[in-house]
Amino acid sequence: MTEPRPSWHSNVGFLLAAVGSAVGLGNLWRFAYLASESGGAAFVLVYLAVIVLVGAPLLVAELAMGRSAREGAFRAPGRLAGRRLEWVGALFVLTGFAILSYYSVITGWTARYLVDVARGAVGRDTAARFAEAASGGAAVAWHLAAMALTVAIVAGGVRGGIERASLVLMPALFVLLIALAAWAGTLPDGGAGYAFYLRPDPARMWRLDTFTSAVGQAFFSLSLGMGAMLTYASYLQKRGSLVREGFVIALADSSVAFVGGLVTFPIVYQFGLQGQVGESTVGALFIALPHAFATLGATGQIVGTAFFLTLLIAALTSAISLLEVLVDAVVARTGWSRRRAVVLAGGATALAGVPAALDLRWLGVADRIAGNLLLVVGGLIIAILTGWIWPGADAELADGFPHPRVRRAWIWLLRVAIPAALALVLVGAVRDALGEIAAAIR
Ligand code: PHE
Repeated sequence: MTEPRPSWHSNVGFLLAAVGSAVGLGNLWRFAYLASESGGAAFVLVYLAVIVLVGAPLLVAELAMGRSAREGAFRAPGRLAGRRLEWVGALFVLTGFAILSYYSVITGWTARYLVDVARGAVGRDTAARFAEAASGGAAVAWHLAAMALTVAIVAGGVRGGIERASLVLMPALFVLLIALAAWAGTLPDGGAGYAFYLRPDPARMWRLDTFTSAVGQAFFSLSLGMGAMLTYASYLQKRGSLVREGFVIALADSSVAFVGGLVTFPIVYQFGLQGQVGESTVGALFIALPHAFATLGATGQIVGTAFFLTLLIAALTSAISLLEVLVDAVVARTGWSRRRAVVLAGGATALAGVPAALDLRWLGVADRIAGNLLLVVGGLIIAILTGWIWPGADAELADGFPHPRVRRAWIWLLRVAIPAALALVLVGAVRDALGEIAAAIR
């Protein structure tokens, strides 16, 4: 007996769940790191342009695929574009599996830091502390705890688990984040942080690598290119266009990333920690900020607790969307009950994450390949599929655009400009990934 396909209770529930998927570690961890690596404000500007011209249009396409197919990531491509594209569904699911395996490891660090900072147990030598948190049995244990929490929410179902959790957690996240940004605004020496973050260096804007990392980040941050958004949209009962939804999600996601920078950069500059931020992908969040919190005593304990709670909420609501893709795929493939599928998918991902918990280099390579390269590949496929192959695409989206010209521009973006841009990015991403792998092996 197969269970009926789940659906959202309300459109707001869907939107908050989708924003929950988009807003994640990527907004606070990857965004800050890339911005500081790629020239601060210049990166921010390029990033926003990429969101509007590449991210949001593709997101609309991905949502339309899911809603129209009424199938998740695994089945939808084949359903819409015929059997010869069934492998795309497998690629989506594999990408989600790989991302969740290391995403959960970072979620585990976050949970551990939340507990430690709240107890005031983080000393000033945060580099040593991080080295300990990110290796050995402790890292594995916290990774498993994060997976268990994710499994518990997803086991509750689309409405009773994911939607209910999003309705509570996402508003809490917004409030916490704004409070944190307001507090960061009171730091006397935060000004240099704002300057770095908000004043663009024009020379950096026109560099190809700034564009390449902005595209990779846009995909990761919007949960785009592996069918997470597609799967969420497949539970929609609403008819009509998804153009507004796509842009609302993209706007909410970029706003959170932007405000996240207003939290991170003043703190980092106030305490002169800029050197630690660009050093490694994890420097800003898990080394520099905890150091600042430890320096601040009791205030740091409160602010730090709020910060890691925000981060944990962001991470969890993204992790559940990744797990949902896998669960839906297992159900589609086997006809099992949801509960059984959750246990299998959660257990397999937990196991697959162990190497990333034990070794940061593994985590870095997995993030390069799955979190960057495969998402861009997925995005390219979505653009080609909706632009050229799926016959219903145009009808599905026809009434969503305010003006026929806007719609024509959207189609042109999808058919021509976006595939061309992504092909360019892919060449760079493959080169980077090979370099990273070579460095990790050495
Ligand atoms: N968007 C999430 C983030 O920014 C990560 C994610 C990627 C989630 C792909 C689902 C799918 O952290």
